Amino acid sequence: MVLPTDPATRPKAHRAAILHFRSDPGTREDPASFEFFEDGLLSVRDGLVAAMGPASELLPGLPSDVEVITHPDSILMPGFVDTHIHYPQTDVIGSDGRQLLDWLQDHTFPAERRFSDPAHAHEVAEFFLDELARNGTTTAMVFCTVHRPSVEAFFESAAKHRMRMVAGKVLMDRNSPDYLLESAAVGERNTRELLEKWHGRDRLSYAITPRFAATSSADQLQSAGLLARQFPNCLIQTHLAENPAEIAWVRQLFPQARSYLDVYDRYGLLRDRAVYAHCIHLDASDRARMAESGAAAAFCPSSNFHLGSGLFDIAAADAARMPFSVATDVGAGCSFSMLRTLGDAYRVAQLAHQHLPPLRAFYLATLAGARALGLDNRIGKLEAGMEADFIVLDLRATPLIARRTAQARTLAEKLLILMSLGDDRVVSGTYILGQEVKVS
Ligand code: GUN
Ligand code: ZN
Repeated sequence: MVLPTDPATRPKAHRAAILHFRSDPGTREDPASFEFFEDGLLSVRDGLVAAMGPASELLPGLPSDVEVITHPDSILMPGFVDTHIHYPQTDVIGSDGRQLLDWLQDHTFPAERRFSDPAHAHEVAEFFLDELARNGTTTAMVFCTVHRPSVEAFFESAAKHRMRMVAGKVLMDRNSPDYLLESAAVGERNTRELLEKWHGRDRLSYAITPRFAATSSADQLQSAGLLARQFPNCLIQTHLAENPAEIAWVRQLFPQARSYLDVYDRYGLLRDRAVYAHCIHLDASDRARMAESGAAAAFCPSSNFHLGSGLFDIAAADAARMPFSVATDVGAGCSFSMLRTLGDAYRVAQLAHQHLPPLRAFYLATLAGARALGLDNRIGKLEAGMEADFIVLDLRATPLIARRTAQARTLAEKLLILMSLGDDRVVSGTYILGQEVKVS
């Protein structure tokens, strides 16, 4: 990746069709929830959005030093926000899925072992951030491994590229191979030190990261809850109710808890800025409790297909007002592309005889993610003063996409074509703080 440099270059404005969201369009695609300018202008100054609106209104008042760049046959929108992904699993993508617990033992844990080596961690972190940028993802909530060097390497790379990232050191103190275990006390000390070093530095945030209830003792979950109380502004991430065998195991390990979610609740891990990956096999009380606590679910459709985990219930989440965003969950998810992931989310809804309208899908991949991370005052929409992380999607990226979008009459039709046929080839530009990222 070539770093965004040279802030002294002329300020720029981008002329294109521009889309962003103000709230959840819902299943009815509420027209007040988004703004779309067929001929829009986004001007950037000092890495922030200076103005955004119709080109005809903004061009006359544009300062004379601003260079205007035109993106024909494109839609410009906020960068994607991927709310659940594992950078150390980049080299696990496409492994034989079977089901979650076998996949962890056979492929994932051995791959994570290598992240005690800082050189390996750096190499993978650089590749991973390139891959995110190529796919138009400008912010992600990321699992590292249990090893401190995996966290240091990731944050150092993200800071170098000025990307807004959330990440944390995985906590696991039981039911795992020795090479990934660390006592609850050592895990707490390492988390505290990493959190104090990295949370709020550059564009980085720290997430307290117990892997899942099955690999943390009660003592470890308690210490994670204590850290969450001591650092109310940092984030929390873990896995929840992904797979039936996993759920039965957690029930055995925590017989006193009412449900899998209740395990986390008992240790103070449910609150806003907490993101729970999967949330497939929940009941109505769990969803109500998620909504009440302010925690958000990460819907990982591609991962859930690959591991055969089940179908996230969008209608039940909506009925309970449980917020959710969409995430790739690489490496159980097999693509870094949020477009492909939205295509899978659409198919999950279809299989359940529900519906995911395309405008809502793009909300879930942008502003919903920023909200889940408590970052919607900085990213996820393109209002003046927001950080200028945005992408340009090319409606002519492939012959088939060009052919289909040329026939589309509405914005929703174009978006559905992009999420049905699109991937990294559609992302013609990724901009971090207003500077285009060049990926080799
Ligand atoms: N549950 C616990 N760890 C993991 C993981 O690495 N990936 C997925 N998909 N589920 C998990
Ligand atoms: Zn995961």
